[in-house]
Amino acid sequence: MTAVRRTEAAFGGFSSQGIGIGRLVRFAWFTANYQLAARRIKPLDPPAPLPAAMPDRATLIRALFGLLREDRANVRAGLYPPPDDATPAPAQWLREARAFFADLPNVDARRRQDTGNRDLRRAPPAEIGDLSGLPSYYTQNFHFQTDGYLSARSAALYDYQIDVLFSGGADAMRRLCLPPLVESLGRRGDRAPWVLDLACGTGRTGRSIKQRWPAAHLVPVDLSLPYLAAAQANLAGMRRVHPICANGERLPFADDSFDAVTCVFTFHELPPKIRRTVAGEIRRILRPGGRFVLVDSLQAGDDPALDPLLEFFPRFYHEPYFKSYMSADLVGLFARAGLVPVETHSGFLAKRVVCDKPA
Ligand SMILES: C[S@@+](CC[C@H](N)C(=O)[O-])C[C@H]1O[C@@H](n2cnc3c(N)ncnc32)[C@H](O)[C@@H]1O
Repeated sequence: MTAVRRTEAAFGGFSSQGIGIGRLVRFAWFTANYQLAARRIKPLDPPAPLPAAMPDRATLIRALFGLLREDRANVRAGLYPPPDDATPAPAQWLREARAFFADLPNVDARRRQDTGNRDLRRAPPAEIGDLSGLPSYYTQNFHFQTDGYLSARSAALYDYQIDVLFSGGADAMRRLCLPPLVESLGRRGDRAPWVLDLACGTGRTGRSIKQRWPAAHLVPVDLSLPYLAAAQANLAGMRRVHPICANGERLPFADDSFDAVTCVFTFHELPPKIRRTVAGEIRRILRPGGRFVLVDSLQAGDDPALDPLLEFFPRFYHEPYFKSYMSADLVGLFARAGLVPVETHSGFLAKRVVCDKPA
């Protein structure tokens, strides 16, 4: 433990107490990957100007460890079972690191190309070919990732890329959606609720929902068939999982169908008008008294020490709608859609917004 204390002091004085060794190993692995990736990418020409007062490493680690501590306390309080990502998986990490670093030069090259090359319509991934049914805001290389959301290769790389970006804390941020679900579904007492995970990606949130409520009917929805296939693989062996490929703007479900809806890390990738449409759809498909939990990026002012990082993020990672998201009034957005705000809460670089549909 002395080595741990010495490391804490060297990084600027934060405490790793209450986090647990598994989460600490994960943090160390993905932070080392981040440092290595930062060394492998070439500096931009001209260099991307850094905002003044970027948070230092200790500030970021303190924020992440705060979230990890809360996550562990939630497990200890019995809110949800010990998660997969609290156990180190070295063989899997090594395999995925190899693929991540092999693809990194492609991501880096895209970062330095002109903006036109961020649009997938110029060169659609072969396995999709026809992009005509997809909205134009969607057919972009978000985060400069290879093939956008439109190939199995992209889906296979995605989770690892996100964990490198967030020092291994991505799933802990996703799990911010669980406590408000525990409260709402518990109040109703239904052991087999219907839960929709909108824009499910590779199914990480859905997996923790099913681990918490094994009898629940989970409906993972995404516009990307390859990501939906990855979600199915992630949820393999779990019963009552009904994946659907659909656009969140027009959900193929009757009014009042779901007890709860979650949506994680997606609203910041939608244009403002589409956010309003999707919010309306969420309200429509929730049953009266049902709960919606959004988990997404922190916004300006949530943690002022981290604001400069939020300013920098869309410039370096191609997030075309992030600037408008940063200052969007999310509570007002959902209230105007007919949902009643219940709570907001933040952890590390994420925040949750909880709303109920009036009973
Ligand atoms: C940043 S990823 C987040 C994925 C996942 N929720 C997570 O926690 O990693 C955004 C996801 O939203 C999906 N998406 C974007 N726009 C969508 C839309 N209009 N309808 C359905 N899915 C959409 C993408 O395909 C992608 O899987």
